[in-house]
Amino acid sequence: MISDETQTEQRPPQGDTGTKTVFIKSYGCQMNVYDSQRMADTLTAAGYVETSEAHNADLVILNTCHIREKAAEKVYSELGRLRVARDERRRAGGDMQIAVAGCVAQAEGAEILRRAPVVDLVVGPQTYHRLPDLLAKAGQRQKPVDTEFPVEDKFTVLPAPKRAATLARGPSAFVTVQEGCDKFCTFCVVPYTRGAETSRPVAGIVAEVERLAAAGVREISLLGQNVNAYHGEGPDGRDWTLGMLLHRLARIEPVTRLRYTTSHPLDMDDSLIEAHRDLPALMPFLHLPVQSGSDRILDVMNRKHTAADYLRLIGRIRAARPDMAFSSDFIVGFPGETEEDFAATLRLIEEVSYVSAYSFKYSPRPGTPGAGMDDQVEESVKARRLARLQALTEGQQKAFNQASIGRTMAVLFDRKGRRPGQIAGRSPFLQAVQVEADEALIGAVAPVEITAMGAWSLHGILAGTPTREAVA
Ligand code: SAH
Ligand code: SF4
Ligand code: F3S
Repeated sequence: MISDETQTEQRPPQGDTGTKTVFIKSYGCQMNVYDSQRMADTLTAAGYVETSEAHNADLVILNTCHIREKAAEKVYSELGRLRVARDERRRAGGDMQIAVAGCVAQAEGAEILRRAPVVDLVVGPQTYHRLPDLLAKAGQRQKPVDTEFPVEDKFTVLPAPKRAATLARGPSAFVTVQEGCDKFCTFCVVPYTRGAETSRPVAGIVAEVERLAAAGVREISLLGQNVNAYHGEGPDGRDWTLGMLLHRLARIEPVTRLRYTTSHPLDMDDSLIEAHRDLPALMPFLHLPVQSGSDRILDVMNRKHTAADYLRLIGRIRAARPDMAFSSDFIVGFPGETEEDFAATLRLIEEVSYVSAYSFKYSPRPGTPGAGMDDQVEESVKARRLARLQALTEGQQKAFNQASIGRTMAVLFDRKGRRPGQIAGRSPFLQAVQVEADEALIGAVAPVEITAMGAWSLHGILAGTPTREAVA
């Protein structure tokens, strides 16, 4: 699940108080959003204040994504705009430091400095806890590039967010529990940008979730590039599975909702499926990317399962939790994909019926096996297939939303609504729901009867007493 661009906190720009300001922009996946928040925490502890406007910032950090060519190229156009903003600040007697972090930083390293000399500092996803030191070095007219995979674990040295920062981020929080990937799908850069699979020990995760819960967070999404391959050290010294971790986190009061993303079909083990059966706090929604419905393409992609394996797995999960809703990622136009292969993907989509989906044209990425394959598919064919696939998945999403009208669902309110007097939240199935209600309810879960479907979200009315503590 990848959003286009996300900005971390929105706060008014600070006056000229002598405090340094930082603006952080995230591209790519939720793990980058989490990393951006941790960078903000690190810099806040070092005396910075966040601003929501790049041109007001003493320091701008672009937390970048390398997954497709478009995502990576966006960074360079943004750097062009930042050069103008920096020059303006210089003319006014100020300055602006510019840092590139994230997966483009990891993949391209010092090459970024050559292509965009405006950049002062390059820092990869495993070393951003060193930002204050790196910035001090950058201030001495060096241009540090730190893309190490260090021996120290950044999670043990990163400062915790201040309570006010946690509150400002809302009642729903991300917690990274696993990083990296050993799967090496032939289209994907993640094993190269994020390195080998590692899992955080249970104790650190429990402490982080307890701190978030105490500050008012009600929903925790556990993150990992391959989150269900989680195998962190438990308090008993043994490796715990994600299912065991979820059981432990479900005991933390008053967190009401648990989610996890992104999962690989091969790592959905019995303990995780049973967690869906046994834990009411574990939401009945699962992002389970399949990429293609053609066995031949799945094989060349190195996904290590067939379409039938995937469908069987969906069946087992639905047997454990009958109201389970699924979403997936799809790639169209992988090298060698024929009309027949593509038709198999459409058939799989028909069979599963997804409540949401993310689909992409295959983008050949440097250094991955797919990029070197002979039978690349033409862009116009990819575009046509993408449009057909999206018409199907959008139709399924609409049908699911339509079928929600008349149902009563628990909604966690997490922000103001689209119109004055409205607040907005998420259903257990991650649907956006707008309700006319008091802003004081933001941070609470309430039963909502769904009454209508708009273009972007569902509408509903409060149908019972809100609670800040009960299980959704
Ligand atoms: N770990 C997750 C996905 C991480 S990347 C998994 O295993 O599914 C997120 C999504 O980006 C992928 O699911 C895939 O659909 C898409 N993606 C990755 N590499 C891509 C590429 N080279 N071209 C197009 N889409 C890609
Ligand atoms: Fe990429 Fe495959 Fe790993 Fe997912 S499982 S991050 S798609 S290599
Ligand atoms: Fe992009 Fe890196 Fe996430 S490549 S999708 S930001 S892991």
